[in-house]
Amino acid sequence: MKDNFQHQTVLLEEVVKGLEIKANQNFIDGTLGGGGHTEKILEKNGPRGKVLAFELDQRAIKASQKRLNKYQKRLFIVNQSYIHLAEEWQKKQKEIGEIAGIVLDLGLSSDQLDSSGRGFSFKDQGPLDMRFDPKHQTLTAEDIILTWSESELCKIFREYGEEPKAHILAQGLIKNRSSWIKQKQKFTTSMFVLTILRILNIKETSLGRFRIHPATKVFQALRIAVNDELNNVKTVLPQAVDILPSGGKIAVISFHSLEDKIVKYFFKESSQTCVCPPQAPICNCDTEAKLKIITKKAIKPSSEEVKNNPRSRSAILRIAEKI
Ligand SMILES: C[S@@+](CC[C@H](N)C(=O)[O-])C[C@H]1O[C@@H](n2cnc3c(N)ncnc32)[C@H](O)[C@@H]1O
Repeated sequence: MKDNFQHQTVLLEEVVKGLEIKANQNFIDGTLGGGGHTEKILEKNGPRGKVLAFELDQRAIKASQKRLNKYQKRLFIVNQSYIHLAEEWQKKQKEIGEIAGIVLDLGLSSDQLDSSGRGFSFKDQGPLDMRFDPKHQTLTAEDIILTWSESELCKIFREYGEEPKAHILAQGLIKNRSSWIKQKQKFTTSMFVLTILRILNIKETSLGRFRIHPATKVFQALRIAVNDELNNVKTVLPQAVDILPSGGKIAVISFHSLEDKIVKYFFKESSQTCVCPPQAPICNCDTEAKLKIITKKAIKPSSEEVKNNPRSRSAILRIAEKI
């Protein structure tokens, strides 16, 4: 594994502007990664503003601790999933105080994608792993491929990968895996990629004609399943709204439509004042809006940002304010 942690922070200025950071305000970063968003917040919320940061990946925590060393008195890092946001904040409430904003930069970092042995990239030669937190999570992508049923595999390829050939792939993998298991073969990421190509009848030499690698969607599906990513987003959003005081901001960056849909509909639902069926003559639901949507249209990276950092191209930022 390489020494230097590498990740280029996405939509940095847009997030900072959206959070409207003022001196001495406190913030939560639910996805610390390499610390890019947190660093900018700490630059702006001094001299006494704090950041409570969540991160699953021990390597990212180490890199951020080093990078943000000069802010250590104002930075509280927990090696926990952001699904424990409310609980962890309550534990530290006395030390940290009221929160003015929360940022979530979902998904994985470039460091994770490019680190060999983590199994996130189809270029990887190591085990098919894909855990954000290799120390505490037990289920790996290899476990899923070797033990889940055909219908379970088909379901995740279809729902989490939006893979049109989900059924063919699930069927093909089940056929292939019995021989791997029998021969006690060491299962690797590259072996998995070759199997996918074989099932889809694609020659390695013809990969150039594909806009995206034919294994991309299956890889996305496995990563989401291993880390339960969509459920995590659904779990954290209501907690974030609950702990924010009136005027507090929440900024969420998604990297694919499955995540963005969850954020978009959550913001929409939380900003509604009435959820009665349209045929109801009068409103009797007493629903109160909890959020005001700040980004009527989602913010995307500028063409300059995409040019400098092509991986930012699918980022989608939505911001809302607690009412
Ligand atoms: C896109 S990166 C964040 C990059 C960061 N904003 C920066 O500027 O360096 C996403 C990070 O979120 C972490 N992560 C993913 N799911 C998480 C969860 N449920 N709880 C805490 N961290 C999570 C990943 O390990 C990864 O490091």
